[in-house]
Amino acid sequence: GVDIKTLRSQAGIITLDRGFKNTGSCESAITFLDGEKGILRYRGYAIEDLAEKADFLEVAYLLIFGELPTKEQLDKFYSDIQDESEVDEEMKKILDGFPKSAHPMGVLSSLTSALIAFNPSSVDVSSEADMYKAIVKILGKFPVLAAWTLRKKKSDPLNYGDDSLGYVENLHKMMFEKPGKKYSVDKAVINALDKLLILHADHEQNCSTSTVRMVGSSHAGLFASISAGISALWGPLHGGANQAVIEMLEKIKEDGGDTKKFMAKAKDKEDPFRLMGFGHRVYKNFDPRAKIIKKSADEVLGQLGIDDPVLDIAKGLEKEALEDDYFVKRKLYPNVDFYSGIIYRALGIPVEMFTVMFALGRLPGWIAQWREMRLMKEPIGRPRQIYIGEGHREFKNVDNR
Ligand code: ACO
Repeated sequence: GVDIKTLRSQAGIITLDRGFKNTGSCESAITFLDGEKGILRYRGYAIEDLAEKADFLEVAYLLIFGELPTKEQLDKFYSDIQDESEVDEEMKKILDGFPKSAHPMGVLSSLTSALIAFNPSSVDVSSEADMYKAIVKILGKFPVLAAWTLRKKKSDPLNYGDDSLGYVENLHKMMFEKPGKKYSVDKAVINALDKLLILHADHEQNCSTSTVRMVGSSHAGLFASISAGISALWGPLHGGANQAVIEMLEKIKEDGGDTKKFMAKAKDKEDPFRLMGFGHRVYKNFDPRAKIIKKSADEVLGQLGIDDPVLDIAKGLEKEALEDDYFVKRKLYPNVDFYSGIIYRALGIPVEMFTVMFALGRLPGWIAQWREMRLMKEPIGRPRQIYIGEGHREFKNVDNR
C-alpha cells in the first residue's frame, strides 16, 4: 500500500516513503520491468528471447554496453576477461583464514573487497577506458573467487579455468573439476546454468543493485560497490530466498508433505513463517522468470534423469497458492527463486552456494548499473529523514542522571 508522509523544511519538501515503494532513485536505460503485466526486458529485448537464444556472456555485454555484441566484439570481450582471470596468490591466504563452516556469501563479499588491495588502480575510474579495465577484471576474477569458495568448503585444491572453454563452462569446471580426473560435463547442465544466470542478470533497482549504486555514488570503486551488493543480496528477503525455498521444501517433505499445513502457517499473521519464493515488491502478476524456470526445471530434471520429490511439493504449493484468497488478494505469485533452487540442486550445487550462483548471474547487472551511474555523473546518494526523536535537552553529568 502507499505509505507516504511529507515534511516541509528549509531545503524543500521531504517525502517519507518506507522501503522506497513509490520512489524512483534514478533514470536508467538498462532494464524495463512492468510488474502489473509481468514484462521484463534487458535493453529492450524480451527476457524470454534472451533466455532461449542468447548466452550469458552476450547478455552481460548487452546489459553493460547497451547493444548485442558482434562476433568480433564478443571475442575481444571474452579474451580481455580471460586475460584478467588470474587472482593474486596472496588471496589464497585470505581464503585459508576462513573456517570451512563460513557462509560462502560472506567469504565472497570479503574476497571481492580484498581484490582492491591487489588491484588498486581499479578504484580510480576517471575515463571510460579505466572503467572497462575494472569491468573485465571483475568479470574475470569473480568466477574464480566463487569457485574457490566452493572448493574450500569441499576441501578440493584451488584451480584455474581453461581458456578453450566458454565463460559458463569455465565457471562450472572451476567449481567441479576433481583432482586427477579429466573434466567433462553434460551439455544440458551448461545450458541450464547459462539460462539461470541470464534470468538473474539484472532486475533494475532491487535491494542489491540500489546498494551497488549507493556505494558507487560516493566514488568508492567498482569492487567495493560489488562487495556491498553481495552483502545486500545475501538476506532471505532478497537473493537468500533461493536457499530458504529449498530448505522450506525439504522441511515440508520431512514433515510428511502436508502443503496445506504450511499454507495455513504462511497466512497466519501471528506466525512469522512466509512462503519463501512467493511475492515480489514489483511483480503483482507472474514473475516472467519464474515461468521460464519452472519449464526449465522440468526439462533439466528430465534430461538428467532426476526425480526430485520437492519439485512435486513446489508445484503443489504453487497450485494451492494460485487458488487461495489470501495469495490472490495480495497478488502473491512465485518469484524467480521458487524453482531455481531445484535446478541448482539437480546440477549438484550445494544449497549454501545457491545465493552465490545468483550473485554470479547478477554481476553484469550490477556492473551495468554502476557504469551507467558513473557515466551519467549521478550525485552522491544521500536520502533525508523525518526526525521523530526528542527536542533539545539539557546535558547532565553522569553523577546527576
Ligand atoms: N508469504 C505469506 N505472506 C506474504 C508473502 C509470503 N511469501 N509475501 C508477502 N506476504 C504478505 C505480507 O504479509 C503482507 O500481508 P498484509 O498486507 O496482510 O500485511 C502482504 O503480503 C504484502 O507483503 P509485504 O511484505 O508488505 O511486501 P513487500 O513488497 O515489502 O515484500 C517480499 C516483498 C520481501 C518479496 C515478500 O513478498 C517476501 O518476504 N517474500 C518471501 C521471500 C522471497 O521470496 N524473497 C525473494 C524476492 S525475489 C528476489 O529477491 C529475487
